[in-house]
Amino acid sequence: MQKEKVAVIDGGGRGSVLVDRYLRSPHVAAVIAIPGNDMMGRGQGKPVETFQKVRASDVGNIVTICKDWEITLVDIAHERAVCAGLTDALRREGISVVGPTAKAGNITEGDKAASRLFGTRHGLPQPEYHIFDTESEEGDDAVSYVKTRAMKSMFVKAAFLCDGKGAIPVETKEEAEAAINHMAVLPYNAGRKFLIEEWLKSSDGKNGEEFSMFCLSDGTTWNVIGSAQDHKRLWDHDKGPNTGGMGCSTPPLVLRPEIQAQASEIMEKVFTGLKTEGIPYTGILYLGGIIINQNGKDKVYVVEFNARWGDPEAQVILPGIKTDPFEISKRCADGQLGGLEIETDGRSRVSVAGVALGYPESYKQAEGKRIYGLDRAGEVEGVTVYGAGVKVVDGKHYVSGTGGRLFHIVGEGKDVLEAKERVYSAMARVFVEGNNLHYRTDIGHRDVERILRA
Ligand code: GLY
Repeated sequence: MQKEKVAVIDGGGRGSVLVDRYLRSPHVAAVIAIPGNDMMGRGQGKPVETFQKVRASDVGNIVTICKDWEITLVDIAHERAVCAGLTDALRREGISVVGPTAKAGNITEGDKAASRLFGTRHGLPQPEYHIFDTESEEGDDAVSYVKTRAMKSMFVKAAFLCDGKGAIPVETKEEAEAAINHMAVLPYNAGRKFLIEEWLKSSDGKNGEEFSMFCLSDGTTWNVIGSAQDHKRLWDHDKGPNTGGMGCSTPPLVLRPEIQAQASEIMEKVFTGLKTEGIPYTGILYLGGIIINQNGKDKVYVVEFNARWGDPEAQVILPGIKTDPFEISKRCADGQLGGLEIETDGRSRVSVAGVALGYPESYKQAEGKRIYGLDRAGEVEGVTVYGAGVKVVDGKHYVSGTGGRLFHIVGEGKDVLEAKERVYSAMARVFVEGNNLHYRTDIGHRDVERILRA
């Protein structure tokens, strides 16, 4: 039965969990990961080849590797690969792909201005926004625009992909001006077009609660495949700069049935809108949603869409899916998702990211430092460790320098309390040479409190 060869396009914790899931499928003989990381596939008895010098956006090289390795299914988990057109290129070679076309990826994630305009065309609940294109002669000057606005709390957001560094929350007009100037120096020239958006708040002035919901679409039908709650700020108590995600929990208890229904209604409009615009969507579409209470009524708004799994959300959702991952992906790629029941184990999971001290700004000092205790952490009952920025030499772990998030530890349990207890008892076993490890100690705090209060 084992004859399929799968390629996973990602190098972080999200890619690690996808590799792990595919390796467990009886259909799958081998998995490759591009770029991948050194901890993928350890101890699973099937070969995992990684290509760590190949970038996720290097479409030509990836297609060649997939043909050379006779890959039968490619799972694209990285936004740069999507937006660079990897799906389109692989399909031209007759290879099955889970992932949207460049056009679908760009309208959802790759160009945040296009995404908001799509939201306006299809009546999605979203913040007020204004688009500034620095390459156009026309349009308003952003600094003058901010001066005319009554609101002080805003987001200044790069339109193009920026590795999670493109959205800057501001609370004063001076901060807004600094963020506007910062757009010009973002990597990849990602801020050449940018948005200024309303910072949505509840009517009592409090911030809304965010959640991540993941839908799988085959271009015709779509399903919700899982949800989680990420913690994007660097420090406990949701303080500090935004990061790629410091940890998350599933299921997010804030997704009560009426909130879930609102989120699903939004996604129905999205998939219908994409179809009517001639852009069918294949693969994972991630809704970053926020719940805002307006005069006693909770309403879901769209913060963002992403054309791929979340990282670290994939680490808590995918292990709970009992249906064969290869079967789900193959049916998605073939447009055959209709009628497929996706079974889950109903367990809670909490994932905590172990990051290099200084992440997300600067963590060069941690490169090459030894990471102690990852194997012992994985021995805690109900715990799994996924690698990301880790190099393995002679069975020893080191900070690779490829990314600030080094590894993710996931604890599972009957509820968030048990999952959290397990993940933190495993995390306590890890140390990075020179005291170079940082992690948040409060992942899952909202649901812990909800359970304790009930
Ligand atoms: N967890 C946030 C993201 O994947 O974009």
